[in-house]
Amino acid sequence: MSTGFIHLLEPGEPWLDSKGEMIQAHGGGVLLHGGRYYWFGENRDVSRKEAKVLGVSCYSSTDLTHWQDEGVVLPTVYDNQDHDLYFTQVVERPKVIYNHRSGEFVMIMHIDSPDYKYARVGFAFSQAPDGPYQYVGSIRPNGAESRDMTVFQDDDGKSYLIYSSEGNATMHVAELSDDYRSLTGVYCRIFEGQYREAPAVFKYESKYYMITSGCTGWKSNEAQWAVADSMLGPWRTLGNPCVGPDAEKTFYTQSTFVLALEERPGSFVFMADRWKPDNLRDSRYIWLPFKFTEDGQIEIRWETYE
Ligand code: GLA
Repeated sequence: MSTGFIHLLEPGEPWLDSKGEMIQAHGGGVLLHGGRYYWFGENRDVSRKEAKVLGVSCYSSTDLTHWQDEGVVLPTVYDNQDHDLYFTQVVERPKVIYNHRSGEFVMIMHIDSPDYKYARVGFAFSQAPDGPYQYVGSIRPNGAESRDMTVFQDDDGKSYLIYSSEGNATMHVAELSDDYRSLTGVYCRIFEGQYREAPAVFKYESKYYMITSGCTGWKSNEAQWAVADSMLGPWRTLGNPCVGPDAEKTFYTQSTFVLALEERPGSFVFMADRWKPDNLRDSRYIWLPFKFTEDGQIEIRWETYE
């Protein structure tokens, strides 16, 4: 299957911003707003050994290859040990959606203690896509643990939080309230007992799709995709969407987001992290374009652009 319809940066190579600095946006997601792409992710360029993350970075671009550094739009804090964003805490997988009703940009992220027992989801708000974001606090969604997560905004503005819960054994999909500041209490349990994480959700022709990884920490494993007629399920698993050499290890990456290319319906970019656990700041980005075939299948393949 030819996927040569978009040019992206070379997967796995160092990706530099417009100033020539290594891009720090791990576990990230992309928001398209006002004709500009905003890429948010974990800034792991930390100099203090005990620090997990410097905060959430934002980069912007009009073509997905040239990225301007918009700075750390939600920094970790150094002066309050009880703060969720204290510099030794875990701040992972930030995702931003725009609330058309309130005009707010909403950042939702995994907040945890260094031992991953706190297991919460944090919320921050901004009036502009490139921040600054005001952190308002964290919750355990519907009283349940929340670790790896993502958010999905449907065409009608209804949004959902998707997170690994119950000791990571089962995922939940929970409805966000209309102001994206809390949950409605409606949720479903999916992939029960299957230990899935790193969710990335997308929609095509009225169906919802989700790519997840297995649960092996920073080590890569086989991805799985699933389909549903409603975000609240039932979800049906479809196997590994990756094909070719190293497909069983997701090309040594882990999913983080699927970007829908709005001007090309049916075309998407699979965004994944190639983690380097001993040097997380040098973890690499692997973005692979894919398209739905006429019979509703996808194949994610390694692709180079030279
Ligand atoms: C998995 C998760 C990451 C991070 C690491 C920590 O890879 O997907 O976001 O939490 O585990 O081990």
